Amino acid sequence: MMKVLFTAAEAVPFIKTGGLGDVIGSLPKELSRNDIDVRVIMPRYRDIAPEYLDKMVVTHRIIVPVGWRQQVCDISCLEYEGVTFYFIGNEYCFDRPGLYGFPDDSERFAFFCRAVLEALPHIEFRPDILHCHDWHSGMISVLLEAHYRENPFYSGIKTIFTIHNLAYQGNFPKEILGDLFNLGWEFFNPEGVEFSGQVSFMKGALNFSDYITTVSGNYAEEILQPDRGQNMDGLLRSRRKHLIGIRNGIDYSEYNPAKDSLIYTRFDARSLRRRRENKLKLQETLGLWISEDIPVIGLVARLVHSKGFDLISQVLEEILALNTQIVLLGQGEEGYQKLFEDAAAKYPDRVSANITFSNELARQIYAGADIFLMPSQYEPCGLSQLNAMRYGCIPLVFATGGLKETVEPFNYQTGEGTGFVFSEYEAEQLLFTVKMATEVYRNKKAWNKLIRSAMKSDFSWRQSSQQYKALYGELINK
Ligand code: GLC
Repeated sequence: MMKVLFTAAEAVPFIKTGGLGDVIGSLPKELSRNDIDVRVIMPRYRDIAPEYLDKMVVTHRIIVPVGWRQQVCDISCLEYEGVTFYFIGNEYCFDRPGLYGFPDDSERFAFFCRAVLEALPHIEFRPDILHCHDWHSGMISVLLEAHYRENPFYSGIKTIFTIHNLAYQGNFPKEILGDLFNLGWEFFNPEGVEFSGQVSFMKGALNFSDYITTVSGNYAEEILQPDRGQNMDGLLRSRRKHLIGIRNGIDYSEYNPAKDSLIYTRFDARSLRRRRENKLKLQETLGLWISEDIPVIGLVARLVHSKGFDLISQVLEEILALNTQIVLLGQGEEGYQKLFEDAAAKYPDRVSANITFSNELARQIYAGADIFLMPSQYEPCGLSQLNAMRYGCIPLVFATGGLKETVEPFNYQTGEGTGFVFSEYEAEQLLFTVKMATEVYRNKKAWNKLIRSAMKSDFSWRQSSQQYKALYGELINK
């Protein structure tokens, strides 16, 4: 049986800040159904829910070299839904509130990368493939090459690095090269880890991993272009033969409107009348004007401009003037929070601003809103639009990355499609597309067809996990 170890900084249900956590929580489950022994290794943060922390059993205590220091590392283990998770513990690095964004993140994740490699012989799991995700795990392939290849236990271990977002690169002052990684200056060049005079975790991963993947085919193409490549496009072009896009899926057993206990009324594509009850209840609970006829626009996102809030803020009033309602869920930049709070104060029965995180409300929005607005400026894959479609909430997106790949534009002639797509990143275009969507919304028959097509499209992990499996197979037999 193939053995694969995922390394990542977050995973559902333990802890998550974004889509990365969802993927690490769901893809391994699906892969293990396909006869792969997949396990996951991640940091043991203080903020992991106590119900899981309490169940973790420390199995080993080891010493991990970080530069000239020796750090204590404990390894604990927990099985969840058939997948084994290992947790890397260290008081200084991870026993604090929060996940990332600290001034010493370079040290924390340098420790993590090193600890993963040191842990392998102890946990008695020698993976054929180390499948590393995002910059936090980026230095693993570099360290493997530099410090472990001579050791027979490690020889032959292959590496894959998955880019979930090329914009987060983990770039730090060059001194960390020796201080945190025990690497010499021979690594400080563009073929190594040097990036604009700094040490870049991402760059190291892109240079040293056997294969690079990213989370949609379209994003894999986009990042080869200078305007989308975050200054890594040249390197990515040179590695083009070893770069592939595999679209993310979502956990279909977790996100299922026919079984979801967090929504008001369960439904499927054949019982859309019941979907409407979710809409009315959503309006009622949030204090909005209760009406079937008014299209409800849902927004579930981090409130940052790359998620399209720069466009939305320019035309918010005009969108409301189209006789719509807006339900927002998310936190982020203060300016955007205030924008929605002010709008909610001004139009209490038309706008609901929920400046928070809530899995429950997110599901209720997917199940009850009519249009799901997600005009991200760039989006490697995007998962919320997939959740929305699964619950019959029609996505309205900008034609970029995974959004372009997963939402099929509504065809006014044939009535086919699964959503609305605009292709110039401009507020006017966004507004125009919302207007078109609200017009289609008035045609109940056309809209119901749209809902059914969206609900029927398959964004489970089934197909994508086969692609990963094929890639693993190819790499192992190389
Ligand atoms: C990041 C990307 C998002 C992707 C997710 C999981 O959050 O921004 O597009 O879906 O990672 O891969």
